[in-house]
Amino acid sequence: MYVDPHDPKARLFLHYGDLSDGARLVTLLAEIKPDEVYNLAAQSHVRVSFDEPEHTADTTGVGTIRLLEAVRMSGIETKFYQASSSEMFGATPPPQNEDTPFYPRSPYGAAKVYSYWITKNYREAYGMYAVNGILFNHESPRRGETFVTRKITRAVAAIKAGKQDLLYMGNLDAVRDWGYAAEYVEGMWRMLQADEPDDFVLATGGNYTVRDFLQISFEHAGLNWENHVRFDERYLRPTEVDALVGDASKAQDKLGWKASVHTPELARIMVDADIQALKHAGNHWIDSVNLDSWKN
Ligand code: GDD
Repeated sequence: MYVDPHDPKARLFLHYGDLSDGARLVTLLAEIKPDEVYNLAAQSHVRVSFDEPEHTADTTGVGTIRLLEAVRMSGIETKFYQASSSEMFGATPPPQNEDTPFYPRSPYGAAKVYSYWITKNYREAYGMYAVNGILFNHESPRRGETFVTRKITRAVAAIKAGKQDLLYMGNLDAVRDWGYAAEYVEGMWRMLQADEPDDFVLATGGNYTVRDFLQISFEHAGLNWENHVRFDERYLRPTEVDALVGDASKAQDKLGWKASVHTPELARIMVDADIQALKHAGNHWIDSVNLDSWKN
């Protein structure tokens, strides 16, 4: 929980910094001297990366080398975690693991491939403790509202409450391996506690389509998705990633990590949370649903 920094019990401190500003990153790291750095920063929306490809390359790709260089130049001893992504596998068919070749299908995926290799390069070139966590889709009630799971669970809550009738969606045939973000964050931390730096896939191994996620979520609220979902081509991507299903056996063997929440349970957790959130937020909440569903 966030505590005012004037309070002696405060343990969380926020600082300004931006991955587009390399000099600032050096100053910050020299000042804070962190034991561990987790690079989770990016323009992380795949569809948006087609609209803003250069910005995506700058933050999601070059941003990583700015941060790695800042670690090197500030001379601090720190472990470095790079948020690599299953989007790097792109068109390579599942199951995907650490040995699967990359075939990115978006400016976002291509930028993540650059960041993956530059992290590995800094490990080999400078002996840095730097790791890639190759995470498959991980979700929670805190998920951004324009990603497909949250877009669906927010709509379910609004439709159930009689505040919305239709939900416009893109490709329902895409297969994803959706896990629970809280468990994945523990996996990230475990990667930095290992004796040697290495790269790991985190995934549930589950295989569900967007249509399945719709069905599970609507059913949980006692609704029939087919009565409420309509197609809008604006949500299609110029090139799609058809199927991502991960094999996390290396993380299980070496880190003792295994996902316990699978996609159906995750969908129910998110629907329940959005139904509760709507009860608390009332009309203010519904305005933002309509705005978001227009965008992505
Ligand atoms: N966002 C969105 N909105 N996606 C839709 C929609 C829609 O209306 N309709 C269908 N989809 C499909 C997309 O085409 C895609 O195949 C799938 O739903 C999942 O889309 P997202 O939730 O936007 O996630 P993503 O898989 O593209 O990327 C996420 O996971 C990656 C890990 O594999 C992001 O979190 C990335 O940052 C992350 O790296």
